[in-house]
Amino acid sequence: MPGFELVGKEERDSVNELFDDGGILFAHGFDALRNGRYRVREFEKAFAEKVGVKYAQAVSSGTAALKVALFAAGIRPGDEVITQTFTFIATVEAIIDLGAKPVLVNINETLNLDPVEFEKAITPKTKAVIPVHMLGVACEMDKISEIAKKHNILIVEDNCESLGAEWDGSYLGTKSDVCAWSFDAGKVIITGEGGMVTTNSEDIYKFAKEYHDHGHESNPAFPRGRDTRRIYGFNYRMSELQAAVGLAQLKKLDFIVQKNRENYGIWYDGLKEIKGIQFRKIPALSKPLCDCLIFQVESRERAHKIVAEMAKEGLGTKNVPDAIEWHFAKYWDHMAVAFGKTKDELIRFTEPSANQLDRSIAIPIMVKHDSEIIERNLEKLRNILKRV
Ligand SMILES: Cc1ncc(COP(=O)(O)O)c(C=O)c1O
Repeated sequence: MPGFELVGKEERDSVNELFDDGGILFAHGFDALRNGRYRVREFEKAFAEKVGVKYAQAVSSGTAALKVALFAAGIRPGDEVITQTFTFIATVEAIIDLGAKPVLVNINETLNLDPVEFEKAITPKTKAVIPVHMLGVACEMDKISEIAKKHNILIVEDNCESLGAEWDGSYLGTKSDVCAWSFDAGKVIITGEGGMVTTNSEDIYKFAKEYHDHGHESNPAFPRGRDTRRIYGFNYRMSELQAAVGLAQLKKLDFIVQKNRENYGIWYDGLKEIKGIQFRKIPALSKPLCDCLIFQVESRERAHKIVAEMAKEGLGTKNVPDAIEWHFAKYWDHMAVAFGKTKDELIRFTEPSANQLDRSIAIPIMVKHDSEIIERNLEKLRNILKRV
């Protein structure tokens, strides 16, 4: 992980500079009072350049980014949108909030969308698929893209968790129709709350821009108070404060990713000889973010015991299993009706995913841990794995 470990002088300076420049916290207007600086615009430009896309639209959260991305891509009530059972709940909430139908697909041993199941779930109503690159590792984008192309389905990536990870030499999230990113408190870079929608399509960008801002077209022929509109929208805007923090954090991205990979290497080397554990499958073209190392054991019961022992030794996990209820559709019976299932059907349907997740343990990789701390934690974990 993550940006929160590195919040410091640069973020404070960036915010102070914003106040020195007039303290305008709104992304638009107040032209005479802001010393020519528009931080949200600067953050969008810097982000687009960094990840390698034509357009970036900053928004108020990753959840908002998903909803704006789906709307901008043309998802409307009644459309079906396929996504995976293992994701943060927001992916499904965004689909439901637009009046579309979320269609669940189980994960495979990559712990991401199973392409075979994806193809089986397609119906004449399917408009889009949301592959979610969970915990730093890419979905199998080659297979997913091929299937989506064959069936004329849009790809809306949820890359809220994996900024910095790559697919086939490019940043993940930059080659599909549109992508949603998050900068919430636990993400790779943070802005407090915040998100981004990126795309290479001018059309999608324009809809995203308008939808996230009450339909404002930002028509240069008119002042904002007389701006034109063609669609309704909402307020999903990012503030200048968030963008000021984001600008400082973005400069730390390369360092964060590099440290993740270094520290992951130490963890991996320290565990690779252990019998009875298996590492998460990583697709060949995926270069992971390495903010988390996931291994599996042979049974749920053993995983459960290992995690209980880890807790006694002060070793935590990252979402799997400590926050699994928020990341696995099996537990979302309050939304079962949206999936067109009963509670029992939901549990039965998600069993193949449960079989993967219940045996998985995700170790968080911390940027600020030095090799001494990691070796100490590794020793604790190795001892647990020997005795449990
Ligand atoms: C996969 C995924 N999608 C969407 C989100 C939502 O992002 P936010 O918390 O910024 O709304 C998250 C955040 O946890 C996430 O992990």
